[in-house]
Parts: sequence; structure tokens; C-alpha cells
Amino acid sequence: MHPSRPLDHRRFVQQTVAGFARHINPGFLEARKSVTEAGDEAAVEWEGEGSILRDATGREFIDLLGGYGIYNLGMRHPEVVAAVEAQLHRNPLHSQELLDPLRPLFAACLAAIAPAGLTRAFFCNSGTEAVEGAMKLAMWVTGRHHFVATSNAFHGKTLGALSLMGKDRYRAPFEPALLRCAHVSFGDSGALRDLLTRLAAADDLPAAVVVEPIQGEAGAIVPPDGYLADVRALCSDYDVLMVVDEVQTCLGRTGAMFAVDHWGVVPDIMTLGKSLGGGVLPVGAVLSTPELWRVWEADPFVHSNTFGGNPLACAAGIAAVNVTVRDDLPAQAAKKGQRVLQDVASLADRYPDVLTGVTGKGLLLAMHFASDEIGYAVAAGLFRRGVLVAGTSANARAVRIEPALNIADDLLDAVIDRLDSALAEVSSAR
Ligand SMILES: Cc1ncc(COP(=O)(O)O)c(C=O)c1O
Repeated sequence: MHPSRPLDHRRFVQQTVAGFARHINPGFLEARKSVTEAGDEAAVEWEGEGSILRDATGREFIDLLGGYGIYNLGMRHPEVVAAVEAQLHRNPLHSQELLDPLRPLFAACLAAIAPAGLTRAFFCNSGTEAVEGAMKLAMWVTGRHHFVATSNAFHGKTLGALSLMGKDRYRAPFEPALLRCAHVSFGDSGALRDLLTRLAAADDLPAAVVVEPIQGEAGAIVPPDGYLADVRALCSDYDVLMVVDEVQTCLGRTGAMFAVDHWGVVPDIMTLGKSLGGGVLPVGAVLSTPELWRVWEADPFVHSNTFGGNPLACAAGIAAVNVTVRDDLPAQAAKKGQRVLQDVASLADRYPDVLTGVTGKGLLLAMHFASDEIGYAVAAGLFRRGVLVAGTSANARAVRIEPALNIADDLLDAVIDRLDSALAEVSSAR
């Protein structure tokens, strides 16, 4: 049963807008201008299923944003909901002392699909926490306390993960409280080689090189073929750990189970999050090998938490992995992604003054616009046409296409038609 919409939806919408202004942060109303201004009333979300999101006034949107990568299975996938519901009535959180049975089951599911050898898992509640865990593991194993990351990298915003941040806007205000981290250009293995050579000569090698296999927040940037294999080889040569952050790319998003699988690369440590909870619960994980994990064996409380790997989260995660494998969501993402990439590229040919290109892999794609202003106008136009993308007033030059991997083909047809119409409108207004 779906909950019915609020009776006085107008008041409900006004209350939500006022509540954001008064108690959350009025800045959000400006930052989410495309949803607060594009219609007569701000869009306040109410319910969703699959790739359809409805707001409190009953307007329907095709979800092309996928919660920035959490909805690989779509919203409220029935099998994930059923698994979580069953667990909710049995034992939602764990005692913290008895052995909780779902945690090793979930870890075994991940070991079965992860690159060879990554058979140990630590569970947490977000991608950022997974990155923190990976950093601590790398520091603990190597005894070194600094890192190398890449330009425009995004790994989260807590102080450890923020140290790796490639965007000054988020990192600069918190320096010098962050861990030392050198940044090299993403996709340039020559630059990494030069840096590691210099650091080795100064006897100052880092604990790890941390890299996204495909950059999500930077605008769906795919590195050149061979890049990740080069990073792997350099890390091995210099005895530095390779951490791959698959928080946004995991569970089929880019057309392979993990993005590293496109290039057959096996990292030392991998971080997961976002879609790992099946779009129902927040779940993060650090995966690594028994060899590296050994440092945590003597005292498993050196890195622990209260809620990570809780029964509800594990039930959601196990169901998410099962659906991903059974429905071959990586293959679905590869096929649909190829089609969308081609369709959007043809639109870029027709509206070159507006849409300058499309990048990405699988269903982690981004449209690149001539300016923030134009990107925002297209995002708002899409929104008015019932398609949800993230169009922020501050950063809309790259607008991601990141729908559910099982999105129906006819919804993608509708998206392309509506995008064509939104682009035509923006182009003719120029
Ligand atoms: C690659 C990557 N790592 C880490 C994070 C942080 O994850 P969370 O927001 O769940 O903490 C993100 C979020 O966008 C991400 O894309």
C-alpha cells in the first residue's frame, strides 16, 4: 500500500520550504533552484518506485539521477524491501556481543563478486566512512601517514577523506588540519610515476594511492585505457598500496560489476557504498585481502563502529547483490548506457551551442554544457518536462545521467524525447 498524499499538499509544500529555510539551511533552496523554481510549487518528494518519483502534489518524474548512484535497483525494490521488512520483525540491530549471522553472509556475497583475493570486509554506514577505514588500514599496514590522490577526486568530506579531496572549494577551508596528500592529474600515469620516483628518492613514500576508477563527482570522467593497470603496476613497484574507491561505481553502475573489472585490475583495498544498500538503507564497506587484514586481527577494536554491518543493512545488501547478479544489472547498464551515450551524442551534434559532449561509461554518464547557466536551464527544462536530474545553480556545467540500471527502455525513449525538446528550447532562446 502506498501512503496517500498529504491532504493539504499546498500547506505541506510551504511548510517544507519554510522548514528548510528556518531549520536546515536556506542555502539549499538556492542550491536546488531547479526544483524550487521550475514549477508553480517547489517539488517536495513523497514516494517512489522503480524509476518513477512522485512529489507531494502528485507530479511524476522519471528519475534520471538515481540519488547520485544509490538507486542501481530503482526505488523501493520489492525484494530488498521484503528482506529488510522480514529482518525488521526479527532483529533490526545487533546485540554487539553475540555473533551476528548476516554479516559474514553479506561479506561472503561480496567476496564472491569482488576482484580475486578481496575476501575480507568491514562494514560501515556511508562511502566516506569506508574511505576512512581504507585510509586507516593503509596507514596501519605501511606505518606511513600520507597519501597520493588525483585532481578533482571526491572521496567524502570527513577530515580523513577530505584530505584526499581534489576540489579546493571543499578542502581549502580546513587546511592545515588535514592529512598530507599530494594530488596528481587523474588519468596521467606518467605524472604518478614522476611523483612516486621523487617521493621514493626522498624516502617519503605514501601509504597509498587512492583513486576512483571512473570519476563520478568530477563529471563521469573515464581514464584512458591502461591507466588503472599502470597505477596498479606503479603501486606494486614502489611498494605503495592501491586503494580504489568504488563507492559510486560499484554493483554494476558502469557496465561491469566493479569498474576495475573493465580493465582487470585488482586493488589492495576497495571501498563500496551508495547502491550497496539496495536503495533502501545506507551501507558502506571496505574490502581487502587476508594478508592486509592481519594487522586488525590482534585487536579488532582498533577500527570498529556501532551500527556498521547491522542486520537490517546486511539484509538489504545481500538482497541487493542477489538482484544485481540474477538480473545481470551490469550487462543492462552496459547496453542501456551505450544507447543513451549514442543518443545524447547525436543531440550534441544537433545542438552544439548548448550541449558540448557526453562522457562516462555504463549508466554513469554526464552531459557537458557550454556554461553553468546553460546546464542549469536544460536541467530546469527537463524538470518541467518530468525528468529529474541534478541541476544546481552553482554547478550545472556537467549534469549526470545516473538512472536505475533496470530502467525500462520506454522510459529512456521518453527521456531522450524530452531532452531533445529542452535543448531545442534553450538553443532557440539564445
Ligand atoms: C567516489 C566516492 N567516494 C566517496 C563518496 C562519499 O560517500 P558518502 O556520501 O556516502 O559518504 C562519494 C559520494 O559521492 C563518492 O562518489
